[in-house]
Formats: sequence, structure tokens, C-alpha cells
Amino acid sequence: MRADLSLDGISKAFGGETVLKDLDLTVEEGKMVSILGPSGCGKSTTLRIISGLVRQDRGAVRLGGKSLDNVPPHKRRIGFVFQSYALFPHLDVEENVKFGMKVGGMKKEHVKRRTDELLELVGMSDMRGKRPSHLSGGQKQRVAIARALAIDPQVLLLDEPFGALDVKIRRRLRRDLKALQRDLGLTSVFVTHDQDEAFELGDTTAVMNNGRIEQIGRPRDLYERPSTSFVARFVGNVNAIELPGGDRTTVMVRPEDIVMMHSSPDRKGGVKGTLINYVYLGPIIECNVRLTNGESLNVIISREEFRMRNYRRGDEVNIIIRKFSSFSDEEGV
Ligand SMILES: Nc1ncnc2c1ncn2[C@@H]1O[C@H](COP(=O)(O)OP(=O)(O)OP(=O)(O)O)[C@@H](O)[C@H]1O
Ligand SMILES: [Mg+2]
Repeated sequence: MRADLSLDGISKAFGGETVLKDLDLTVEEGKMVSILGPSGCGKSTTLRIISGLVRQDRGAVRLGGKSLDNVPPHKRRIGFVFQSYALFPHLDVEENVKFGMKVGGMKKEHVKRRTDELLELVGMSDMRGKRPSHLSGGQKQRVAIARALAIDPQVLLLDEPFGALDVKIRRRLRRDLKALQRDLGLTSVFVTHDQDEAFELGDTTAVMNNGRIEQIGRPRDLYERPSTSFVARFVGNVNAIELPGGDRTTVMVRPEDIVMMHSSPDRKGGVKGTLINYVYLGPIIECNVRLTNGESLNVIISREEFRMRNYRRGDEVNIIIRKFSSFSDEEGV
């Protein structure tokens, strides 16, 4: 049997407030699932339950089909990397990495060899003698990853590990982490509220809302075939607009699924509006259009098209919706 990690019907309440609601999740052995969700939806709680730091009220955590529920946290062989580096400030880089192995009673020569390997792996060999206070955020996080790997974990959990770092460093670290995870075949769960990060790192991404996983899939599935209105709104950008007519149906339209043209007397069909503003985003231009019924729409067009049509603020435009989705869980806005 493969050592898949599975959460089956996990529920958890804190002081009467339900935080996780019958949550199911499977991470295949050797794969990384990213959990993407807004603040407070229960991401960290989910990781804490996997690691055994928090006990669920109901449901089971299994690895390779065997329940971990009676295994204490330090015996689960789960590596954990936190957003706040959680390195020991009085120990240097090398000692931080060694710590877990020493506690685990590993032989001295083995500890030495493994530490060298891990520091090499995360690119921190040259800094082995430094204290955490003398490292940058990115370097600290590399040490934290090495330390989490030192116990030879069966599962690696990462809770917004790059949250406090600037964009460039985040990008590099996430590329390195992905390569490392793939090479080592680590069964991993990565938590973030950054969509790019979730999509790049996860073999699949689980979108979480309000204590539940709403959908799990590849980026393309989530973007093109969202199964709930929350997923449609949370993944990428979307316009929620009310269709004309009495039944107050709300539909979701991606900004790139709208065709915009200058309005002219002979142009039939579509909806009229005014180009209120636009933002230059490099290859694309994001336009804000106010429709005659007062609704505001985001429309994305290419830089070439924007130039060709010579748009100005205040232009009268005509809008055609090419594609939309609607959801039965949407109560109307
Ligand atoms: N030990 C605790 N005691 C009481 N409430 C808690 C505890 N831990 C978490 N919560 C509550 O559970 C909810 C989910 O918290 P959690 O930390 O899992 O969210 P999160 O998705 O990780 O959010 P963020 O993105 O902000 O880190 C929150 O409302 C939080 O206040
Ligand atoms: Mg959290």
C-alpha cells in the first residue's frame, strides 16, 4: 500500500466555533497538495491536526491507511515549516539542523553526514556557523526547511513559509522547494493564500473556504471549471453581474471573456457602457467599464488591441459577454 496521507471527515471546534467541517483530503505519496484559502478558513488548523499538535473532534488522519491518531506528534515523523522561522536563536545554522537528529538519538557520524547533505541541499553550506539573527529571511527559511527534513519525515507540512519574504526571493525559494520536493518525492502539504504560489507548487490545489475544501484540482480545472461561486471568485478575477430580467440571476464573467468595442450607431447587440479607467499591466490592460445600469465591469484586453483601438477615458463602448458561468449556491448579489 502506498503511503498516501488522508484526512477523513475531520471536524474541529474551538470554544463552540466550528473551524473545520467534515473535511476530506488525500495527498498521494510523493505529491504536493497546496491548500489555498482566505485568512481564518482553517488552513493552519488543518496542518496542526495532521502533525498532532491539535486534536480533531471527529474524523481520522491516516498515513498509508493506518491511523495516526494514537501516535504522539514527535513520533509521527512529520516535518513542519512555519511562517515565523521558529529557529533556535542561540544555536548556529548547523546546530539548528542537527537539533532534531540529536534528540532522536542518531549516531554522531551519521548526524554530521546528514547535516552536510541537508545544508548542501538547501544551499546553506557556506553559512553553517552563523546565528539566525545574522541571516536574511530567505536564508532562515532555507535552514528551517533543512531542519524539517533532518528527521527524514514521511510528510512535510509548510504553513505560509514564504509569507514574510519579498516577491523575488519568494519566487526563487518556491522554485527551489518544488525541485527539492520532487527530487526527494516528499509527500507534502503547502498552505498559502497566494494563488501563484499555490499553483506553482501544488501538483493539485485544494481551495478551502470556511472549514471545508470546496474544490481540488489542477489550476486549469479551478480556473475554467470552478464548481462553486466561491472558487470562481477566489481563483483569478471575476465579475459578478446581474442579468437583465426579473429573476435576479447572478452570473460570473472572467474579465478576459468580455469583448469591448467602441460603440457606434450601427452596432447592434451587446450592452452599452463608458470606459471609466484603465490600468496598464504590461502585456494586458485592465479596463473598468460602467454599464448604463450602473454596474461596474472589469475587462481585460491585450496591449496591442488597446493601442489599435486608441481607447481614452470617457469613451462610449459596447460590451459583449462571450462566456459566463452561474452557480446554484449563489444567492444573488
Ligand atoms: N487554538 C485556538 N483557539 C481558538 N480558536 C482558534 C485556535 N486556533 C485557531 N482558531 C480559530 O480558528 C479559525 C481558523 O484558524 P486558522 O489559524 O486555522 O486559519 P488560517 O486559515 O490558517 O488563517 P491565516 O491565513 O490567517 O493563517 C480562526 O477563526 C481562528 O481564530
Ligand atoms: Mg494560518
